[in-house]
Amino acid sequence: MGRVYKKISPMTRVRSTHLEDAFPGIQQTKESYSVTQILDGKSIAAQIRGEVANGVASLVAAGHRAPGLAAVLVGENPASKVYVGSKTKACAAAGMESWTVQLPANISEGDLRQKIQELNENDEVDGILVQLPIPKGLPEREILSEVAPTKDVDGFHPASIGRLWAGEQTFVPATPSGVLELLDRTGTELEGKHAVVVGRSLIVGKPMAALLLARNCTVTICHSRTQNLANICRQGDILVAAVGRTALISAEFVKEGAVVIDVGMNRLTELSEVERLYPGDPKRLRTFEKRGSVLTGDVDFSAVYPKVSAITPVPGGVGPLTVAMVLANTLEAARRRFGATVEP
Ligand code: GUN
Repeated sequence: MGRVYKKISPMTRVRSTHLEDAFPGIQQTKESYSVTQILDGKSIAAQIRGEVANGVASLVAAGHRAPGLAAVLVGENPASKVYVGSKTKACAAAGMESWTVQLPANISEGDLRQKIQELNENDEVDGILVQLPIPKGLPEREILSEVAPTKDVDGFHPASIGRLWAGEQTFVPATPSGVLELLDRTGTELEGKHAVVVGRSLIVGKPMAALLLARNCTVTICHSRTQNLANICRQGDILVAAVGRTALISAEFVKEGAVVIDVGMNRLTELSEVERLYPGDPKRLRTFEKRGSVLTGDVDFSAVYPKVSAITPVPGGVGPLTVAMVLANTLEAARRRFGATVEP
């Protein structure tokens, strides 16, 4: 079996003549963009995690303890367990401490607040994250407001959100700050560009818009009630899709030469859908046979790829950056708490 996915390092461009090499089954058309870059989040995340590990080593060499991250996991959501597991594993790889605080789904609001207070007061803990979603019945915003802003490595506290929009130094949510790293480290020009963000969540859409605005993009936020969505998306020099709807973004949604960032993490459980979205891709089919599902984004990759100048794959695009940026934020939290000026 030939190569099915070609890894591309940051700053490396893929000639569209190699399209079949990178993604079998994708047809190059006459109108294809001449050069399409696949933005390899995996290798950029590895780069960032290496920098974090160096930063941790510098702190320790300067006589400080290793930074520590506490992840609060409420209930038994399997996906949340996987996400928290990958964050704590990455902490260990970077030389950081981590703790998973597993709590029952039926915990009372008061007890959960109390647990977070204990972490706020624990001097060993530099960063706290409450993995979302938390069970229905618990007031999410109130719970997130309980995290001390100095330890709010997720950037979900109202003070962090306000500071972000005010352009002040703060913790920025990991996924959108990872997207910005991806854009910067692959040489994407932002100044003066029209960025269209599809999705208005507090985790991705809103902070993404704030970050792009701070970098002098003209920003449009679209959402489920937006009229003429395709027309607006097609105006974007940069298009960020973060809505959680498989293949919503088809070729008619993108401008020729745009940079497309796919934040979607959707699970395809129908074989016919996998075959439709990834025609002739044996690797996806094998994954489907093995696991009964495959991960997919909000962008119809094979339809959009030929038209754009750069695009993130799913998996291997934005996902790995989320973990890397949580680590980076935790290191930063520790530095601030130690009053350390050590640079990586
Ligand atoms: N659930 C989905 N994304 C995130 C995230 O970035 N942080 C937390 N805490 N929960 C999430």
